[in-house]
Amino acid sequence: MKEYTIQSIVRVYAWEELPEEDRLLIEEAKKATNGSYAPYSGFRVGAAARLGNGTIVIGSNQENVAYPSGLCAERTTIFAANAQYPDQPVISLAIAARNKEGFLSQPTTPCGACRQVISGVEQRYQHPIRILLYGLDGTHVIDSIEALLPIQFADSYMNC
Ligand code: THU
Repeated sequence: MKEYTIQSIVRVYAWEELPEEDRLLIEEAKKATNGSYAPYSGFRVGAAARLGNGTIVIGSNQENVAYPSGLCAERTTIFAANAQYPDQPVISLAIAARNKEGFLSQPTTPCGACRQVISGVEQRYQHPIRILLYGLDGTHVIDSIEALLPIQFADSYMNC
């Protein structure tokens, strides 16, 4: 039997420690929560993607009366970015969430399906996506989805 350990690095930044560019992207993600349609969960999630050419694309969770037909903020945003700017990689993705009381102290992390989509987009553009998870008590930053989705499925697996 062999064993190996998988390590993920998460950096937690106070607001003042974040580079200006990141703060701006988080502000966009926070604003994007206003476009959320979440009458069922009351959980409003916003995301903002910075593309290679500097464009910022925002999105939010969109729920549906048939629950599984809704979509998370992360996928709404990434798919919108890829649809409008198919030649531009996503460089950074900021995510912010609030409930009826306001923004949460601890960040929300992408669900499994969103992690898979982010992984696929990293592979498509051959570019890591820096992820900024906003919380009132600090912003958690990871350099690539690999930290949240280790041992990812890659299309190279299908060639063996
Ligand atoms: N949601 C997101 O948009 N992103 C996440 O990272 C977690 C969950 C949405 C889906 C649903 O509309 C609501 O939050 C409650 O799960």
